[in-house]
Amino acid sequence: MHTRQVTYQHTIEYKVVTTSNLLQPQNWALLSAGRIEDARRFVVVDGNVAKHYSNEIRKYFEYHHVEAKIVTFPGGEENKTIDHFTALVRELDSFPIHRRDEPIIAIGGGVLTDVVGFVASSYRRGVPHIKVPTTLMGYVDASIGIKTGINFNGNKNRLGAFHAPQMVLLDKAFLKTLPKRHILNGVCEIIKLAIIKDAELFKLLEAQGAKSVESHFQDEPGSTLLDRAIEGMLEELQPNLFEEDLARKVDFGHTFSYGLETKHEAHLFHGEAVLLDILVSTLIAKARNLLSSEETNRIFHLIEGLGFTLDTSVLDPELLWNSLEERTYHRNGLQRVPMPRGIGNCVFLNDINAGEIESAVKNLEDWINVKHEII
Ligand SMILES: NC(=O)c1ccc[n+]([C@@H]2O[C@H](COP(=O)([O-])OP(=O)(O)OC[C@H]3O[C@@H](n4cnc5c(N)ncnc54)[C@H](O)[C@@H]3O)[C@@H](O)[C@H]2O)c1
Repeated sequence: MHTRQVTYQHTIEYKVVTTSNLLQPQNWALLSAGRIEDARRFVVVDGNVAKHYSNEIRKYFEYHHVEAKIVTFPGGEENKTIDHFTALVRELDSFPIHRRDEPIIAIGGGVLTDVVGFVASSYRRGVPHIKVPTTLMGYVDASIGIKTGINFNGNKNRLGAFHAPQMVLLDKAFLKTLPKRHILNGVCEIIKLAIIKDAELFKLLEAQGAKSVESHFQDEPGSTLLDRAIEGMLEELQPNLFEEDLARKVDFGHTFSYGLETKHEAHLFHGEAVLLDILVSTLIAKARNLLSSEETNRIFHLIEGLGFTLDTSVLDPELLWNSLEERTYHRNGLQRVPMPRGIGNCVFLNDINAGEIESAVKNLEDWINVKHEII
């Protein structure tokens, strides 16, 4: 036997840039990566974003004499499919781009940036891409990491790749046209971060969250909230970009939600499933004295104050238990469930049992139906 060891290190570097007036021709951000002389860009735009911005996008590239092929893509989880993936690859193949310095530009929500990111990861073994999130979920979460993917065979993100963008461009003005339910959907990821790692962010949400939701984060406190959430998210993602460490704080709210989200008749958005998970987890943490009554009440009052309506009819303890088992398998045999220890701190649990889940669901139903304080 003869073994030859091959070792190669590859540095991942990308910029997450906050900007405004992204589509004004004077703003160079969209063309700041890649060639601009005699250049082409393949641009994929979410269908609902195109309704508002297609003229501006077209004019932007015309102004800079960049030949752009602009393709619209329908948002929504049901479109995160292999058929849409191959349709995009066909479009791309009919508009050859230089594989090194003409990055694909993805303008849309988490579904679009996940699918386009996967196209970029696999087309000609990998081409650069730029992500421009237009939903809050994309802004604070989906666009700023390196995970791409599509759903397959009834499973979420079953096909995908870790593929870093060349750049992420954040312009919160896109959120102005986002429906309220999708604003709240993204807020769930901010709440997650606040509870599990950032007590200051939690206080900001308590003080300003409702107003920021109302203004679609166009107000000044809204910018502070967004900046802090992104900082926190990147702090967690950066040292563990490829998820070699399976105990991840950012998985708070992402254990029981997996089952809730994939249960077809529920039609919950990702963040909505995460929020239900957060509340069940909060009650498990309370029962274990990881959270005090006061802290637990603060969490519930924050959710109430932000204007969420909760539907507990989907909370079947058996489904949640099965989801935990599935995630345990995904996390290589240990539960590794992040749980709050006080607001802003985290501990990982490996011994949650079915009885605890059942009690937490019962308590959550009681809280929603009777609206009492947690004691
Ligand atoms: N890669 C990651 O790390 C990561 C992280 C979190 C979530 N995700 C994925 O993100 C997806 C959810 O993303 P999402 O919530 O953005 O969903 P989405 O992309 O489907 O967008 C939600 C809806 O908003 C519309 N829309 C988008 N921008 C708009 C705008 N500015 N104005 C009006 N309408 C607009 C879309 O057309 C769609 O109907 C899930 O598939 C989830 O798995 C990925």
